[in-house]
Amino acid sequence: MPHAPCPIPSPQSMPTSTWNRHHVLSLADFTAAEYDTVLKTAASFREVLSRRTKKVPALQGQVVANLFFEPSTRTRSSFEIAAKRLSADTLNFAAATSSMTKGETILDTAKTYLAMGTDIMVIRHKEAGVPNAIADEMDRLGVKVSVLNAGDGQHEHPSQALLDLFTICSLIDAENPRLDLLQDKKIAIVGDILHSRVARSNIWSLIASGAEVHLAAPPTLLPKFFAEYIYAEGTDIPPGKLFIHWQLEPALENADFVMTLRLQKERMTAHLLPSLREYHQLFGITRSKLQLCQPHVKVLHPGPVNRGVEISSDLMDDPEFSLIQSQVTSGVAVRMALLYLLGSGKT
Ligand code: NCD
Repeated sequence: MPHAPCPIPSPQSMPTSTWNRHHVLSLADFTAAEYDTVLKTAASFREVLSRRTKKVPALQGQVVANLFFEPSTRTRSSFEIAAKRLSADTLNFAAATSSMTKGETILDTAKTYLAMGTDIMVIRHKEAGVPNAIADEMDRLGVKVSVLNAGDGQHEHPSQALLDLFTICSLIDAENPRLDLLQDKKIAIVGDILHSRVARSNIWSLIASGAEVHLAAPPTLLPKFFAEYIYAEGTDIPPGKLFIHWQLEPALENADFVMTLRLQKERMTAHLLPSLREYHQLFGITRSKLQLCQPHVKVLHPGPVNRGVEISSDLMDDPEFSLIQSQVTSGVAVRMALLYLLGSGKT
């Protein structure tokens, strides 16, 4: 799909590589060029967001519908402000106050938004596969609507992993964040990996970057079949790049970055942990445990955080170690980039 001329004021900094993706549903098949395009575009928008006038006309006249069938604070607000900064018109939907309470199906809801002229649907749902089903339906109808997965069940959360990637690459090279900056960095992903869509999307992006990815959780939250799933889905995971630990320490040793994950209590079907206190003792990230890592280690968390469970409260608020607030800030630039890349071919 050809790009419209770049409408933001520093076109020389926009990526020249092609972007042919019509929907963003998963990172499992993202190419290195696509990651770099997102990172570079997000860097341009971060520059826009630092100006006094933070708005550009890139998606003027387009409609972005945020269809959130599951609760959300930061992802929904982040997509909304990103769309507004691009001058799109936004529609917000919350399942609890919608006609779904009267029995309307998800596909009929999506078609209603289509009939109102929606160009991009940002979709979150508690069931895996809903964004894919809506994208298939839009393609079947032959309409040019793009679908962006904002988190589907335990499956994927591509924009979160892309903003995590942007946050850590920008820390290494703020001017030119790019995938190969993470080559051979050690990154630990710690916590409720089994139930986490954030972990799944991050595994794809970090493996693609050439980082060494270490997953750490108790066996109930990181069962053997999870590794089998990852190796089956990720067709070309190079040897020596993905490690699974049922203890925290080997994952933290010399780590450059530690990604912590929320315990997804709403998705736990059984009592998978003896107690939150014991979980914190064994897998919670604290200042003293970080001493195992590189001195420059940084900690990420997608939020919302259970303070004092996944991460100690003081560490969470310590800007020397915590990237949590910059993840939220990065999220706006990255979501602007995704909306721009999907939307700019439509005008
Ligand atoms: C994540 C999500 O919803 O999957 N949060 C987010 O999008 N910022 C992680 C979580 O809920 O724990």
